[in-house]
Amino acid sequence: MRKLPLALVLSLGLMVPQVNAQKAKSKKAPSTTVQQKTKPVNPAEMKKFIDALMAKMTLEEKIGQLNLVSVGFTVTGPVVSENVDENITKGLVGGVFNTFTPIAVRKLQEKALNQSRLKIPLIFGYDVIHGHRTIFPMPIALAGSWDLAAIERSARIAGDEASADGLNWVFSPMVDISRDPRWGRIAESSGEDTWLGSQVAMAMVRGYQGNDLAAYNTVMACVKHFALYGAAEAGRDYNTTDMSDRRMMDEYLPPYKAALDAGAGSVMTSFNDINGVPATGNKWLMTDLLRKQWGFNGFVVTDYTAINEMIPHGMGKNEYDVAKLALDAGVDMDMVGEVYLKELNKLVKDGKVTQAQIDVACRRILEAKYKLGLFDDPYRYANEQRAKETLLKKEYRDAARDIARRTLVLLKNQNQTLPLKKTASIALVGPLVKSQIDQLGNWNGAGDWKQAISVEQGIRNVAGPNVRITYAKGANVADDTLMIKRLNAHGGQIEIDKRSPEEMIREAVAAAQKADVVVAVVGETQGMSGEASSRADITLPGRQLDLLKALKATGKPLVVVLMNGRPLALKWENDNADAMLETWFAGTEGGNAIADVLYGNYNPSAKITATFPQSVGQVPIYYSQKNTGRPYAGDLLDKYKSRYLDVPNVPLYPFGYGLSYTTFSYSAPTVSTSTLKAGSSLTVTVQVKNTGNYDGEEVVQLYVQDLVGSVSRPVKELKGFKKVFLKKGEAQTVTFTLSENDLRFHDLNMKYVAEPGEFKVYVGTNSSEVQSISFTLVK
Ligand code: NOJ
Repeated sequence: MRKLPLALVLSLGLMVPQVNAQKAKSKKAPSTTVQQKTKPVNPAEMKKFIDALMAKMTLEEKIGQLNLVSVGFTVTGPVVSENVDENITKGLVGGVFNTFTPIAVRKLQEKALNQSRLKIPLIFGYDVIHGHRTIFPMPIALAGSWDLAAIERSARIAGDEASADGLNWVFSPMVDISRDPRWGRIAESSGEDTWLGSQVAMAMVRGYQGNDLAAYNTVMACVKHFALYGAAEAGRDYNTTDMSDRRMMDEYLPPYKAALDAGAGSVMTSFNDINGVPATGNKWLMTDLLRKQWGFNGFVVTDYTAINEMIPHGMGKNEYDVAKLALDAGVDMDMVGEVYLKELNKLVKDGKVTQAQIDVACRRILEAKYKLGLFDDPYRYANEQRAKETLLKKEYRDAARDIARRTLVLLKNQNQTLPLKKTASIALVGPLVKSQIDQLGNWNGAGDWKQAISVEQGIRNVAGPNVRITYAKGANVADDTLMIKRLNAHGGQIEIDKRSPEEMIREAVAAAQKADVVVAVVGETQGMSGEASSRADITLPGRQLDLLKALKATGKPLVVVLMNGRPLALKWENDNADAMLETWFAGTEGGNAIADVLYGNYNPSAKITATFPQSVGQVPIYYSQKNTGRPYAGDLLDKYKSRYLDVPNVPLYPFGYGLSYTTFSYSAPTVSTSTLKAGSSLTVTVQVKNTGNYDGEEVVQLYVQDLVGSVSRPVKELKGFKKVFLKKGEAQTVTFTLSENDLRFHDLNMKYVAEPGEFKVYVGTNSSEVQSISFTLVK
């Protein structure tokens, strides 16, 4: 993602104050509650309205509605939109993205309304991924909170801010399942699990859209990237996906379906090829599955120039060919590529596509505008007063801090090194200690890094002005000059220190020697993950590990605070650090939240939702694997087993793993009946007790295994969780309900069924540390 220089933005006229701005009709919206309109959309009235409008539209104007242009701050591809003003006045633009602020939005909307023939309002989209102005932790971190209410709240706040800032459409949630930490976009995802990913997807859609799209503080969600983008081969972005139908249906597609069932109004195609046909030209995906099987009636937009990219994919000789392919597949709106604009007219004249196909796509976009209330009040989302009152307000920053605390994962805490004492003197070491920009993470949209709290600032805020800190940078975040050049070309701010690595380490060691405890803040910059930021080596970049080794040699307690966008391979760190806190990129209030946890104002409760490997060679590694015919059971000399010679099979940290300052004990689970009859349900019960010295929250996880099937089944699948708060010494009975529905999968004949037979239920604190009990499903 590249942000355009301010000078260019100004030259596009985006920041010029609007003189004759029409007064917005919107009322004041002081809170995040969805401001409901009085009348729900009446489908018959909507149809009548759109029929009448379409009767007046020329073919060109209908094609214009299918054209989404980028105007403004962010560029994520080699092409930028041109002649935008002229095209808007000719009615050749349906929507705009990358433009926000009420003034900038109003300026373009006025152009459409005052200068185009039919005065059809534009829809305004943007990449609001984990917050709009108030930035929340990365999606992978949010999922790790296992707190659906907090996740929904983050999306609600983002929706409130985005809609106050001129927007009505957000390119989120990103629901791609990913089991490959080399892929930079794993940071934008909920991680590896289908069931949890589906829950998060629904929570995000609820947060953005509320139950009323036409309310002036809700925005339309766009589920992306449809589909299977997270399974790109070798973790390389934009790469091919080849997958069995069963795996798609059981493991990768459910989160998209869940988001649509929650009411998401739009879908974005993915860049990847799926079993030989790129998603953007894939009729099976976009029509047979999405429309016919799933009944989706919103609209489909491409990803950035994804139609054009079907030429290098080898799907057509020219734009004429690929425009036809995309429209035939069922794709409605063309993001930036302008292939529809250039080619559809010709295709109709040549009899290669029909007017009716264009009508269908145009109607879907007009319907979205209608549902958003844009025909009632095109300026509904451009209210400067509301923007002033809403953006980055204290209530939202407070929420960002609270939510961020819930996403920080305690990976290790030997000898209760954490929480820190406020009286301890700290050597605060590492290249990310003072970074504000990296707290925001990638895809930080309209976030202002200058508003972000660094770890150092957070520690000073929480521990008080008299905290004794000695700072040393210790290492550069990376030393590969080529990589740094590339990262800096796309918004990075990495500065290579003039000193030699040895000199920097010496300074850090001297600081450590004088302190009671070392806090090392290391990891990746925000640009090392996200789009087009795959890494083949997922260890700490540059000389940061050397820095940690030197700090360890001082004998001082070593606390490693990690900032990164993907699971890293952290074997040495885990073996040697006294404590480790995974903070991902924690958002605008990141530094404060991190300090809250370091000093025990909040007892960590998050658990990772993507497995951390010991070595990149284990990737893809995920808990819901199959058993194989030769499962390895730990006997090193037993040669013919499914294992490596050089690394173990087990991960460094399994899915669902995360510690607390307190400890929890689990009783053996029990089931209400050992025979589950089809159509009824059973209860799984477990006692969880806080056995440590702090009050705290625990994520109690429930997994299921189908022992024998018509096709082989995963060793475990998450089917439920409960996040419970327990005071120290307190115990609670936690119950889960399981029914036949939870046991379904696509059988040998691709029927979605639960097969009778024995099942195991596992309950525990993560996907590895579990206790089990069995039951039998009978029909
Ligand atoms: C490309 C990305 O893949 C997608 O996630 C994003 O929404 C679009 N660009 C628009 O910026």
